[in-house]
Amino acid sequence: MALPTETVYGLAGDATSASAIARIFAAKGRPTNHPVIVHLPDQSHVDRWAVDTPQWATDLMSQVWPGPLTVIVPRAPSVLDAVTGGQSTVGLRVPAHPLTLEVLGQLDTGVAAPSANRYGRVSPTTAVHVVAELSAHLDPERDLVLDGGPCPVGVESTIIGAWDDVPRLLRPGAVTTQRVASITGRQPVTTSSGVRAPGTTATHYSPSANVVAIERDDLEATLEDLPGDKKVGVIALADVDTSAQPVTRLSSPGDQEEYAQTLYAALHQADISGMEIVIAVLPPPGGLGAAIRDRLRRAAAAERAVQ
Ligand code: TXA
Ligand code: MG
Repeated sequence: MALPTETVYGLAGDATSASAIARIFAAKGRPTNHPVIVHLPDQSHVDRWAVDTPQWATDLMSQVWPGPLTVIVPRAPSVLDAVTGGQSTVGLRVPAHPLTLEVLGQLDTGVAAPSANRYGRVSPTTAVHVVAELSAHLDPERDLVLDGGPCPVGVESTIIGAWDDVPRLLRPGAVTTQRVASITGRQPVTTSSGVRAPGTTATHYSPSANVVAIERDDLEATLEDLPGDKKVGVIALADVDTSAQPVTRLSSPGDQEEYAQTLYAALHQADISGMEIVIAVLPPPGGLGAAIRDRLRRAAAAERAVQ
């Protein structure tokens, strides 16, 4: 079943069922040793899944949940290896979406839900994108897509590792490191090693078009260097003017929030309209900018990797 969350749509199944998780991995085409996030109806469920949760992480959960935050904590012994990828930790999150909270509340269990895209591709932020991406890999008799409208945040949750005294930032998202620091009194440390986390590999979040992620100051030079025979799309904040250029504007968000909200739809649109190159002008790094810059750099790295 695909479920809406405030970040992106998830491909969901009972986190206590090995066969449900196997079907999720098969539909995504994802390596089975990658861990998945367990979605909970509320924080009172944490102790069924985790042991020795640090107090600072409990504080963080109670301030931010429901919300776009995943906390990676030491796992309870009963948690399936299929959920944790065989690691000693489990990722937990209470999403802020009324429909999905209702489903989770009625199931009264944890729901494993990676983003509802094929492995390595752009996450879906509408039900239509889920169907376009996965319908060939779902069973029309058994699998539902719950349409909760466009996801209001638009990029995946912030992931914080919480297995010792230090908050580890594993993936930037709408919950900023500043917010984590102010709630916990501890400065998060950016960490990339030691865990298998597909959304944190250098290449990910990639459409078919060749993504070029640039700073605003480099736009003019980049446009001058473009091969004349390619279909080029541009994603940039509204105050970046490209109207005099031979390019298609894919999105013109007014601020960071709108940039995040519309980013994956713009990348999907690039594929639908046959763009060969997408120039993404990176927003400033503050607030949601860190998450947007992270995803765009990974999308751009994926293109370099396949060339
Ligand atoms: O916003 C989100 O987090 C969305 C929505 C559907 O909730 N979900 C999502 O799931 O982005 P997914 O599987 O596409 O990305 C989850 C990331 C992966 O990079 C995964 O490896 C990491 O979380 N992760 C999950 N459990 C982990 C663990 N125990 N240790 C390290 N990383 C973990
Ligand atoms: Mg994903």
